[in-house]
Amino acid sequence: MAAFEILAAAVAVVLAIYYYMTSTADFFAKRNIPYLEPTPFIGSSADALLSRRWRGKVWQDWYNYAKTNGHKFLGVFLGRRPVLVVCDVDMVKTILVKDFQYVMDHGTFFDRQREPLTANLFNLQAIYYRHILTTQGHEWKKLRGKLSPTFTSGKMKSMFYLVHACTDELDRYLEAQVQKGGELEMAEVMAKFSTDVIGSCAFGVEANSLKDPDAEFRTMGRKVFEVGRIRAAAMMIAETLPWLRRVLPIPLVNPQVRDFFTRTFNENVENREKNHIVRHDFIDLLIQMKNNKSAGNEGPDADIDEAILPAQAFVFFLAGFETSSAATSTCLMELAYHPDIQEKMREEVDRVLAKHGGITYESLQDMTYMEQCIEETMRLYPALAGLPRVVTRDYQLPGESPKAVLPAGTRVIIPTYAIHCDPEFYPEPERFDPDRFSEENKRSRPHYAYLPFGEGPRICIGLRFAMMQMKTSLAMIIKSYRVSPSPKSNYPLQFEPKSFVTRVMGGNCLKITKR
Ligand code: HEM
Repeated sequence: MAAFEILAAAVAVVLAIYYYMTSTADFFAKRNIPYLEPTPFIGSSADALLSRRWRGKVWQDWYNYAKTNGHKFLGVFLGRRPVLVVCDVDMVKTILVKDFQYVMDHGTFFDRQREPLTANLFNLQAIYYRHILTTQGHEWKKLRGKLSPTFTSGKMKSMFYLVHACTDELDRYLEAQVQKGGELEMAEVMAKFSTDVIGSCAFGVEANSLKDPDAEFRTMGRKVFEVGRIRAAAMMIAETLPWLRRVLPIPLVNPQVRDFFTRTFNENVENREKNHIVRHDFIDLLIQMKNNKSAGNEGPDADIDEAILPAQAFVFFLAGFETSSAATSTCLMELAYHPDIQEKMREEVDRVLAKHGGITYESLQDMTYMEQCIEETMRLYPALAGLPRVVTRDYQLPGESPKAVLPAGTRVIIPTYAIHCDPEFYPEPERFDPDRFSEENKRSRPHYAYLPFGEGPRICIGLRFAMMQMKTSLAMIIKSYRVSPSPKSNYPLQFEPKSFVTRVMGGNCLKITKR
């Protein structure tokens, strides 16, 4: 009898789990939205759920399928979770800009109490959810308003000297490496440079990653993105069963990383305040915010919880260092494989530097062909393969059936990589061709067919800083060195499937010689 009861209970549990995991399967059918039939527990793609294939390619398959079948939207499932993929650039514009009020959040997980560093601008929610009244409602908007003045071109200009100093160090490093043969893992070199830049501007310290192979900042930078099996599982759960993630004890931020960044930030704030140091960098503004001397918006909402300030320096590091370094090193890879383009960039750098008498903030604005090369690099290798969004208020999809209302909490993906590789906007999309970004060619295609920094009110806040950093380092490298393929180069590039940010698999090794 007992055995029968146990068996019956086990069957009931299995059925309940099965019911729960499949109960969303009619989500899109009920709303007359075209969709891919899900497999129970897996959803639309095991590759996507288990990160077995780079997500950019998975989303590209979905995008191409939708376009071939004339759909503007396609419903897919990650496990049991419905996700809407936007497959039309006019709709991309509507969702990112016109209807932003309905689709405001990134939907990334954060937990201010247990993991304060996750309460950063990228993760914070814009608005109270319909059902979940959180204390941090509207915090994103307040914080964005407060942080935006840090990223104006005036502020970039006053921070340029810090970036330039790191570029001098990069020059010394490359010079020494050329003496040793010049075979370099460019992704690692640029990651070190980028770590030094963000360490200096966001944490106010000399990170010394280029000088010291064991620099703590670089070690922590590596750890930030390390995704072991347990964290990968925790992230998968955060994506598919967010409520379960809240009760699991596995931290998303490595505790060693958390302690290091929090301590470094707090020590520097203390040191600056004690010694009245002003460097015109990000940390200055965060200190001003801490002291409630507003550098941006005043008003009733202006007060910010000071406990979340280290999280903002952390997100500048997190969002800024790998993205900028990956874009610069992949650009160098393309230049190595396209010597004619490299030479054209060099001619421009020589001409502009002769005019300005060296690398200055103003000289960067004149390097328009270099900018085109960076833009083309970020088209082929966008840092985020897609823009994540979450519906924040019930949303009627424009132009669709009246039943096509997405409830608050629904995940949305704008598949950046797929759009960037759509031959309708970029003929022969796999070809590296910076001329696609001449003013004339840019005007000839929809603005929203290019999204490396996102768009709308949630666009990358660090865009100007990133361009300044990438152009300064490229100008120095192209001025003094030549890059060419090495026998160890992996080209065409492949990407790590598990990484949130687009990351080259197997590295990108290049040969560098003195000019
Ligand atoms: C090449 C370099 C970079 C690329 C390609 C890049 C790309 C992006 C993208 C695609 C987003 C999401 C935008 C959206 O959802 O519409 C984003 C957001 C963000 N980025 Fe960047 N980024 C770069 C550098 C930086 C730097 C240097 C910083 C800081 C110093 C930074 C800070 C942020 C922050 C804080 C957000 C969240 C903004 C918000 O939610 O309001 N990024 N970035």
